[in-house]
Amino acid sequence: MEIKQAILERKSVRGYLDKPVPKEIIEDILKQGQRAVSANNTQPWEFAVITGDILKKVGEENVAAFVAGEEEDYGDATFEGVYRQRLVGVAKQLFAAMDIAREDKEKRFWWMQRGFKFFDAPCAVIMYMDEKLDEAACRFDMGCAAQNICLAAMEHGLGTCVENQAIMYQKALKKYLGLEGKRFVVGIAIGYEDPEFAANEVRSEREELENITKWYGFED
Ligand SMILES: Cc1cc2nc3c(=O)[nH]c(=O)nc-3n(C[C@H](O)[C@H](O)[C@H](O)COP(=O)(O)O)c2cc1C
Repeated sequence: MEIKQAILERKSVRGYLDKPVPKEIIEDILKQGQRAVSANNTQPWEFAVITGDILKKVGEENVAAFVAGEEEDYGDATFEGVYRQRLVGVAKQLFAAMDIAREDKEKRFWWMQRGFKFFDAPCAVIMYMDEKLDEAACRFDMGCAAQNICLAAMEHGLGTCVENQAIMYQKALKKYLGLEGKRFVVGIAIGYEDPEFAANEVRSEREELENITKWYGFED
């Protein structure tokens, strides 16, 4: 797959086929993840790859924590202005695709739950780093590795969704993975895209380049 095609066609996949992903494929994807840039080649990233029963249990316990209204271990930041507009914009696109009405609290609640169980993907990668590392300094590098992973997965015909929801409740992750002394940074659901799942058709919008770019030293 051409790099440009992969970059332009990557999207968050939130519905997956019930089809396992071979370990060797994930290995290949993570090796490409590791080739990302990192400040001074510090490579802060580490990966926990979860599938099968453990993934199911973590997902179920995450959902239970969400349904019980437990306090989150990792909260999403709040955004205002144009950033909030964009956030609301993609949410509206997803709800429209899934035919979820604004006032349909029950269906919205169901939709939220899906993220906590990795959208029923057959595999999830939890990205983490040593807790002694400065999170602000290393998050950039982690993000670069995450993007590599999402693009490399496409070469294997796999879809992905980077998700904070994967690490919002960490009790189950800690229970099943251990990983004391490590800081969870983000999760990535990975699997074969369900072509029938309506939300997968959403193409999120992007700002016009001219609104976010200033050019210096170029001719008019
Ligand atoms: C750090 C990060 C956290 C995210 N967390 C979630 C999440 O918890 N749930 C979710 O459905 N999508 C999540 N996403 C996916 C974004 O919503 C998605 O990337 C954005 O809407 C743009 O859509 P696209 O990926 O299809 O281009 C996350 C993405 C990033 C980069």
